[in-house]
Amino acid sequence: MQFLNKPDLYDWTPKMPENFIKVACAEDIGPGKLARARIGDKRILLANVDGEIFATDELCTHEDASLYNGALHHDCVSCPLHGSRFSVRTGEPREEPATEPLRTYSVRIEGKDILVAVDDT
Ligand code: FES
Repeated sequence: MQFLNKPDLYDWTPKMPENFIKVACAEDIGPGKLARARIGDKRILLANVDGEIFATDELCTHEDASLYNGALHHDCVSCPLHGSRFSVRTGEPREEPATEPLRTYSVRIEGKDILVAVDDT
């Protein structure tokens, strides 16, 4: 007898609908550029990597430095205070002293608008 390879437990956790909010116009953030937006109390960093927009938290996870004042090289933003680098795709730190990842947000482009999904504003 052959058993199909099935998971022991199915995840029936209901997914909360994402709440996309317009934060910027796509034409205002050229390739290689950073921008920032506020959604409620959240400070969001927007990064244009070769025409693709990514959104993360704006503040470095090491201390409270604004990554908006850092530099974007390819898909990594560097912190202006101590030099940590983070992937804007995944939020993962690529260089210490920061060890905690940035939170990332889903991005949608509708026409000329950049929308970011937030779930708890
Ligand atoms: S505040 Fe960003 S690396 Fe220290």
